[in-house]
Amino acid sequence: MKLFIDSANVREIKEIWSMGILAGVTTNPTLIAKEGVNIEKRLQEILSVTEGIPVNGEAMGREAAELVAHGKKLAAIDQRIVIKVPMTAEGLKAIREMKAEGIRTNATLIFTATQCLAAARAGASYISPFLGRLEDNSRSYISLLEECRQIWQSHGLTTEIIAASIRRRSQVAEAAARGCHIATIPYPVLLNMLLDPLTEAGIKRFEEDWAALGSV
Ligand code: E4P
Repeated sequence: MKLFIDSANVREIKEIWSMGILAGVTTNPTLIAKEGVNIEKRLQEILSVTEGIPVNGEAMGREAAELVAHGKKLAAIDQRIVIKVPMTAEGLKAIREMKAEGIRTNATLIFTATQCLAAARAGASYISPFLGRLEDNSRSYISLLEECRQIWQSHGLTTEIIAASIRRRSQVAEAAARGCHIATIPYPVLLNMLLDPLTEAGIKRFEEDWAALGSV
């Protein structure tokens, strides 16, 4: 499973990029608003601190025509831009239209297996089921991931599944074990998933033993 960062913060993206584990970036209107920046400018900055990986920006609008117009504007920034489109009937029309123009899309705000299937059939390059928001609403994301795995296996779908709305590292492992192609992960969770107390204790012990050896 590939690791994406779910962030519009350039410092966070640079830090994870420098570790060699970053396969993509997702942003959304909330993350852009948190940064208080212009979306086009920020997507350009993210492109400039990464190489060769997809960078997702979200198209705004309710009607397909609005989504396509905004999507095209963002996609014109660079080949690496992927357009996030909300999972609605109008969104599906926009996905189909953008695919015909060679623009990659990511169907977002997905909560059911039938939404996953429809977005994949419309031609989305990626679909993003929101695990954390399902859990926030006392709905099982595990059963959704299992259903998707079966559907993808049975029907040979090629759309990549992005486990999104990740709240903690155990969800990253759960998504990977259930065949998700990608997880998009907030910066604090990405850092947390690298840690284990036994790693730190092991380093400390090796340092103490090394120091006790002196200059033999
Ligand atoms: C996915 O691409 C979204 O940006 C994101 O994962 C939403 O997560 P949230 O539910 O924490 O806002």
